[in-house]
Amino acid sequence: MIIDHLDEPLPGSSLRPTPPGHAYTDPSIFASEQAEIFEKMWNCVLRADALPSVGHWKTVRIGREEVIVVRTRKAGVQAYFNVCAHRGMRVCTAAKGRSRTLQCGYHAWTYALEGDLVAAPNLTSMPDVDRQQYGLRRVQVREWLGYVWVCLAEEPPDFDEAVLGEVRTRFGEIESIDNYGIESLRCGKTKTYDVAANWKLIIENFMECYHCATIHPELTEVIPEFADGLASQRKNGEVHGSNFGQDVHGFTVDGSASGFGELPSIAPGQDRRYYAITVKPQVFINTVPDHVIIHRMFPVSESRTTVVCDWLFLPEVVAKAEADELDLTKSVELFHRVNRQDFEACELTQPSMSSKAYAGGGALVPSEHHIEEFHAWWYQTLGLRRDADAEDSAAAPPAPAPAA
Ligand code: FES
Ligand code: FE
Repeated sequence: MIIDHLDEPLPGSSLRPTPPGHAYTDPSIFASEQAEIFEKMWNCVLRADALPSVGHWKTVRIGREEVIVVRTRKAGVQAYFNVCAHRGMRVCTAAKGRSRTLQCGYHAWTYALEGDLVAAPNLTSMPDVDRQQYGLRRVQVREWLGYVWVCLAEEPPDFDEAVLGEVRTRFGEIESIDNYGIESLRCGKTKTYDVAANWKLIIENFMECYHCATIHPELTEVIPEFADGLASQRKNGEVHGSNFGQDVHGFTVDGSASGFGELPSIAPGQDRRYYAITVKPQVFINTVPDHVIIHRMFPVSESRTTVVCDWLFLPEVVAKAEADELDLTKSVELFHRVNRQDFEACELTQPSMSSKAYAGGGALVPSEHHIEEFHAWWYQTLGLRRDADAEDSAAAPPAPAPAA
């Protein structure tokens, strides 16, 4: 049962309510989230250069589905449900590989990289079989920021509106992020975190800086205004990033200069600032003058989430690091510590979500207003009513929709 009083302050205070604890622990709510959020929205799944040449493929999990993402000969990067059209076996059974075709290991139905069925035992004796119809089922694909984004819905939300719209909301326009040239950066480091917490706790944590003074000593050293608990936000219609401290020379674990220089096209106002954007439902973009940090979240269960974090630098910087002429450690270490501090906080919060003491939910302070907006979006997307008399309808969250 979800009881929510989101439109009213908590009695006698300026605090606002959160969803109740079981929103973070109930497997049926998690199933609804998979169906209504992750299987209907655009998901950022991998860096496009992780598929460097024709035939390279990777499998990724989105909602309850597994998807093959492959670089084809004729159609760039494409994606398919990892389901054989014959009798359903997984076609690709590893996390990644490279092949000329995609062949199922059960009865050897074989698919072109472009998806059509091209060979199968005795196929020539069945000339009526439509090779497109019995090809792999296609998933919608876009590339943006150098990443492959996929959507399982047959009629996906407009990418420009749904994904770029989040950036416009944050910056007022799209150029501010274009300045970083993220699509042409290279990944200098990737770290994968297995976080024992519900995905919403991780988003909520990212949306506020009320916790920064308590748990992020290194980050607040570099960006002192975070110690006041204020995340970067738009002020008077102006885009406002978060300023580096006066004596800080770079976004590194000790504030020392990274020596990488700035990304070439950033605006003068972006040269000593940190910006952060959440692209719902599973991406965080963090920009600093000389690199960009991108998180992708993959919910595994109601209490477990995989987070993959990439540190992106200019290609020449990564090349020098690979040649041991340059060290990325101090830059990577800062956000790696931030990640560990944040994820530990989320993991220490998750068990309390099933406590009697949190059954009615908790409270948001005014500076956590982004979280309140996120909750409103969550209720709306899941079709859960937010008023107290919606107890009955909320008691039974919408049944998971069939995968598109
Ligand atoms: Fe794939 Fe039979 S299930 S070939
Ligand atoms: Fe944090």
